[in-house]
Amino acid sequence: MLNFAVVGTGWITESFIQAALESKHLKLVGVYSRSADKAKKLADTYHAYRYYTDIEEMAANPEIEVVYIASPNSVHFKQTQVFLKNKKHVICEKPIFSNLAELEAAYRIADENGVYLFEAIRNVHTPNFQILKEKLHLAGKLRSTVLPYIQYSSRYDSFLKGENPNVFTAEFSGGALVDLGVYPLSLAVGLFGEPKQVSYHPVRLRSGIDGSGTLVLTYDDFVCTILCSKVSHSVLPCEIHGEKGTFVLADVAPISEITFYDSHTKEAQVLSVEQESKDMVYECRTFARIIESKNDAEYEALKTRSKIVLRITEEARQQNDIIFGTEK
Ligand SMILES: NC(=O)c1ccc[n+]([C@@H]2O[C@H](COP(=O)([O-])OP(=O)(O)OC[C@H]3O[C@@H](n4cnc5c(N)ncnc54)[C@H](OP(=O)(O)O)[C@@H]3O)[C@@H](O)[C@H]2O)c1
Repeated sequence: MLNFAVVGTGWITESFIQAALESKHLKLVGVYSRSADKAKKLADTYHAYRYYTDIEEMAANPEIEVVYIASPNSVHFKQTQVFLKNKKHVICEKPIFSNLAELEAAYRIADENGVYLFEAIRNVHTPNFQILKEKLHLAGKLRSTVLPYIQYSSRYDSFLKGENPNVFTAEFSGGALVDLGVYPLSLAVGLFGEPKQVSYHPVRLRSGIDGSGTLVLTYDDFVCTILCSKVSHSVLPCEIHGEKGTFVLADVAPISEITFYDSHTKEAQVLSVEQESKDMVYECRTFARIIESKNDAEYEALKTRSKIVLRITEEARQQNDIIFGTEK
């Protein structure tokens, strides 16, 4: 059992805590918030014995082994460094950082301090992702893929009223691609590897970030199109088209249902399994297993995926002069 603490008190932190406790690998011992009231409330709810408003003080507690960070994207790097330097393993929410330079620096600090740094990207740690990966060969030669993640954000309502929710600003490293697009992108990189070419076509909002966009990944013999948006809604499924058949995924995150359609027999086969409703439980188990067994090979594979994903979102932004606050 690993003792963990959390940073940030949004709904995702509660989801993570619940999944972590359900995984039976992690025990909550500390909560950090900028507000003492919020920290105490969350700590009390989940029986953590300490709460903090000073991040350095939490990082200095030798009982804490792992820290989960769910603050705004632009803050991840600074906070992660504090914990890595204090020899805590860090599980940082997606998108892990603003750019590749930050990620490379953080992995270096993690190595120097003998700890691991993980990106919490929930869909690629699930049983249905594994099934998809194992069965992908059924489709034969892949030709095209369409992966939408188009979900109207309630925060867009406040943005339209003139407010600036973090995820809709460049200052906090927001935007549709890094917020939602990273799910289909991580899935694509996990299944198909690094693309030969990347091209991003954003629809920009008044804050300069992408409210929606289309990311095209070009591979040797096929093309993967990722659609992401926080300003509209879609009921489109994901499709992976090969010469022998097509995979249809009801959703990209979580991957709830996978059906394979044979191009020749026209038969449909459901391949997915029922997943746990708190699907972050799978990433908790993966990270805990790597920490406990010091599985460096598995860790390196996760690092590679996170690096490729971040390199692509950075290139996509550069193509369109989308510059984050920390980069100015
Ligand atoms: N895996 C998933 O399914 C999933 C889902 C949603 C979000 N996320 C990720 O989780 C992270 C947080 O997302 P969110 O929507 O919860 O973000 P958020 O509401 O903007 O901020 C999250 C928390 O960070 C703290 N915070 C807010 N502004 C801050 C600032 N200027 N400086 C330092 N801390 C600040 C707040 O906690 P305190 O007031 O308590 O300090 C807040 O509750 C993001 O990286 C996002 O991409 C992941």
